[in-house]
Amino acid sequence: MPTVYVETYGCQMNVSDSELMLGKLAAAGYSPVEQPDGADVILVNTCAIRDHAEQRVIGRLGELKRHMKSDTVMGVTGCMAQRLGPQLLEKARHVSLVVGPDGYRALPQLVEGARRGERAIETSFDLEEHYEDFTPRRFDKVKAWIPVQRGCDYRCTYCIVPTTRGAERSRRLEEVVRETREVVASGMSEVVLLGQTVNSYTDGTHDFADLLRAVGTVPGIRRVRYTSPHPNDFSDRVIAAMAEVPTVCEHVHLPMQSGSSRMLKRMLRRYTREGYLDCVERIRRAIPGVSLTTDIIVGFPGETDEEFEETLSAVREVGFADAYTFIFSPRDGTPATRMPAELTVPAAVASERLQRLVETVRTMSRQRNMGLLGTRHEVLVEREAKRGEAMLMTRTRDFKTVLVPGDSAMLGQYLTVELTGTTGSTFTGAVVRERQPLPMAG
Ligand code: SAH
Ligand code: SF4
Ligand code: F3S
Repeated sequence: MPTVYVETYGCQMNVSDSELMLGKLAAAGYSPVEQPDGADVILVNTCAIRDHAEQRVIGRLGELKRHMKSDTVMGVTGCMAQRLGPQLLEKARHVSLVVGPDGYRALPQLVEGARRGERAIETSFDLEEHYEDFTPRRFDKVKAWIPVQRGCDYRCTYCIVPTTRGAERSRRLEEVVRETREVVASGMSEVVLLGQTVNSYTDGTHDFADLLRAVGTVPGIRRVRYTSPHPNDFSDRVIAAMAEVPTVCEHVHLPMQSGSSRMLKRMLRRYTREGYLDCVERIRRAIPGVSLTTDIIVGFPGETDEEFEETLSAVREVGFADAYTFIFSPRDGTPATRMPAELTVPAAVASERLQRLVETVRTMSRQRNMGLLGTRHEVLVEREAKRGEAMLMTRTRDFKTVLVPGDSAMLGQYLTVELTGTTGSTFTGAVVRERQPLPMAG
């Protein structure tokens, strides 16, 4: 059997796409392998979100050349493939396939063609494409990524995603429920619903609130998560569904990007600082104990010191459990690249801001986390910890990472743990033995 190796960069949507690609190729007779060495087909599923992400892939493509046999087919898929198309074939002579996010249905034929020596590009968008008939080859054994929406209809001025993934479209609720049932049947109890603005989900009949209720009540499901919602699409219905469906976890990843209304306007985020804080308030009121994480960009064109301070103050006001922080990276073709050059924030200023932001986030989460030592939580064992022997990486419902001692036999189990230590961002914990119920007398 010919073998295929897939390497994935970027967001969970790309991870999910890689699972679909592997499923499709496995159905066509390819055997998935975990190492590139000697594989008949190597696919690199790429991300275009920041220049750094693309540079990493370019470097990696060069490295992977060493693992190719004389007849190995090397393909580039995903957002960079979509963005660069023919340029990739020109620049990297050892690449013979370039396939964008809507082109994976044709992969078996494209790979066959490439094995006969053809070079091909498939970057058309297909607004009907959800790969419904594919059987994903999931990498993760404990939680399942389920795409519910593809593409994006927002036009944030810094962002390349609308260009690389096309217009927003949602799967039918019935299809998402069917996949959830299959996931449960295969032994998993956690799903993560994926979409670029996942809470704007609509299949014409059902909204995201309906979807949460439907997925959350599939028998056997214990945890439902989703990522990433847009603050503007947090209707009261969605918040109520989150609050009322017990399986929906008490965690929201709510990208803020900036705490300054002027910056948000320039970014075309379509909400103000107050609008964002109000959204946080509505979520917190409905869901006690909910934890919030976020994405923030510093150094967007025109960001002044005062505007950056507003981001810091918003971070303090919300008290995020964690934040993914980025220095603005200009992406060709996005509106932000057409802003006047004098608005460019110098690299040194941007790095200094990033540093301060990271410090602020860390200080706040450390304080909060110290206060949680000694408390007990339900965790799900997700995987073996990378470092340290016989340690497991587990997560609480509100998305805290807790390292506990144990072995691989415990993967997928739910445990009660007591938090015993914290590095500031993650915890160590001890498994609490639930007391066995006493035998009934008489
Ligand atoms: N659809 C999601 C975000 C997807 S991209 C949303 O709207 O929330 C993930 C994160 O990358 C974004 O939230 C943003 O913080 C960051 N990002 C996107 N484009 C960027 C750019 N050009 N430079 C720096 N960071 C960027
Ligand atoms: Fe990009 Fe904005 Fe769409 Fe998110 S909502 S993917 S940041 S354009
Ligand atoms: Fe990257 Fe594409 Fe995801 S640009 S972040 S892989 S949607």
